[in-house]
Amino acid sequence: MSRDDRQKLLELRDLRTYFDVEGRTAKAVDGVSFDIYTNEVFGLVGESGSGKSVTSLSIMRLIPNPPGRIESGEIRFRGQNLLDLSFAEMRKIRGNDISMIFQEPMTALNPVFTIGYQLREGIRYHSKCSKAEAEDRATEMLDLVGIPDPRRRLKDYPHQFSGGMRQRAMIAMALSMEPGLLIADEPTTALDVTIQAQILELMLKVREKTGDASILLITHDLAVVAETCDRVAVMYGGKIQEISEVKALFKTPLHPYTQGLLSSLPRPDKQKKTRLDTIPGIVPSIMSMPPGCKFAARCPIAEPRCERDEPELREITPGRFCRCHLVDGKGGGRAW
Ligand SMILES: Nc1ncnc2c1ncn2[C@@H]1O[C@H](COP(=O)(O)OP(=O)(O)O)[C@@H](O)[C@H]1O
Ligand SMILES: [Mg+2]
Repeated sequence: MSRDDRQKLLELRDLRTYFDVEGRTAKAVDGVSFDIYTNEVFGLVGESGSGKSVTSLSIMRLIPNPPGRIESGEIRFRGQNLLDLSFAEMRKIRGNDISMIFQEPMTALNPVFTIGYQLREGIRYHSKCSKAEAEDRATEMLDLVGIPDPRRRLKDYPHQFSGGMRQRAMIAMALSMEPGLLIADEPTTALDVTIQAQILELMLKVREKTGDASILLITHDLAVVAETCDRVAVMYGGKIQEISEVKALFKTPLHPYTQGLLSSLPRPDKQKKTRLDTIPGIVPSIMSMPPGCKFAARCPIAEPRCERDEPELREITPGRFCRCHLVDGKGGGRAW
């Protein structure tokens, strides 16, 4: 299928989400646009503080107000702008069409109810079935996410599950709603590396069995993106810096920031943990962003105009977007 034939499930247009902090405005998300197609796994990657979680919470309309607000933009889901919906309508969307897996499962699981109760309630809210049917479906879901003896484990409370099992239970809950879009915000960072890989694999497997949800996978780890995503957006300083098919991004990263992220990935010959903080310099505070390119201060090829003028996100080759004055599409800037 060609790119243009694919259906757009989610369209973000110039989204701006601001926080009022001590009388000043922090532009956490500052003009973000991207599309997620039906059936696609879309990665959103960037260092801590770049605005990934604020983007996902904006889509869910869960930005705490005050201090936050969605200043402007559009979030179109199946063509409808979510920003036009009432809170009641939005709650329905969250229950049925878009569900979210958080980094810390305890924020999604209620400690005073059993896992089974929470799963059944979600299932019954979604499809008006009997208690017994919901129980069967809940058992099936726990089984699908690899929890042994699922019918008995349904009677457990969240604290009786290990961290990895809670993550699995949360995936079961999120996918039992058969959502069109699943948002997973750093779903595995709290887990050890082997379990991380298992959980991601599981998420993709369960998604196939439950109706092919599109996934917005948020992570600071490019290695995770390589293994799971179809396309990826690289975010820095509240802005999208590059959008690309994953293969092309790894083959020829265009933006100097993306090149930096890639060069800080561990190589097979070195026993090093995946870290992104090997790019020299620190993420500028969103309270004092430079007027020009947000990455200029850390960029090895920056010119004086980069500090002054913000580059546009330009389509460099079909489907590849990059926000850099110095990238012309003929192989990108210099490699690190
Ligand atoms: N409730 C809040 N109040 C004030 N600032 C916030 C709030 N939530 C997020 N921010 C700011 O928005 C920026 C982006 O945060 P976030 O989206 O959580 O980053 P990421 O998920 O990429 O690590 C950060 O500078 C953060 O301090
Ligand atoms: Mg985050």
